Amino acid sequence: MKFIAGNWKMNGTRNALKNMVGALKNVDTENTIILCVPYTMLCIDSGGVALGAQDVSVHEKGAYTGEVSATMIAETGAKYVIVGHSERRQYHEETNSIVRQKAVMALNAGLTPIICVGETMEEKQAGKTMSIIESGVRESVPNDAGHNIIVAYEPRWAIGAGLTPTEAEIAEAHKLIADTLIGMGLTEIPVLYGASVKADNAADIMSIPNVDGVLVGGASLKSDDFIPIITSVK
Ligand code: 13P
Repeated sequence: MKFIAGNWKMNGTRNALKNMVGALKNVDTENTIILCVPYTMLCIDSGGVALGAQDVSVHEKGAYTGEVSATMIAETGAKYVIVGHSERRQYHEETNSIVRQKAVMALNAGLTPIICVGETMEEKQAGKTMSIIESGVRESVPNDAGHNIIVAYEPRWAIGAGLTPTEAEIAEAHKLIADTLIGMGLTEIPVLYGASVKADNAADIMSIPNVDGVLVGGASLKSDDFIPIITSVK
């Protein structure tokens, strides 16, 4: 069983989500399917497909105009929330410390945080890939998270770019993440790969050791693109 998570980012409509959920009903799979969609779509009847949000406030409630708390997300019936996505880190200057606080809020509300880490092109070119990944995990994942978390490795330079690291690079990154989590006392944590995952590379990527699934951006928006990714692995 693999985790196949879609991140719709700021795309789609409630109708598009209803159509996707309808199409997913006919898919014969043992994989866990998650759709992380804009807040406005979280209340639709998703027919058994787990929904998630894409960000959460570090605050519980109060005068924080525009923010949405973990409790509010949980109230919709959503089960997951992405925290520390590279676009949040890039455009909203979210640091590992903020990401960790968000993960804690999610856990306290009974949500499973999908905690993203990954290096920029600049960091990659400076030979810092492994240290950025390791500090990303150590500083963004709460030590007492238990089993209720997912980590996603998203090389930031490869997102939406049609670029992917080599299989050896993905293997090395995922081994480091798994080892770092174990070093923190966190075992059996699924680690997903995300960045330019498509139907034609999904099965190969998910055959790499320590890759427990994928976090898919653009190719999760249309059922014709997403379903072949889901069915590419058992
Ligand atoms: P793409 O699949 O569009 O590269 O996006 C990946 C991503 O950011 C998923 O969270």
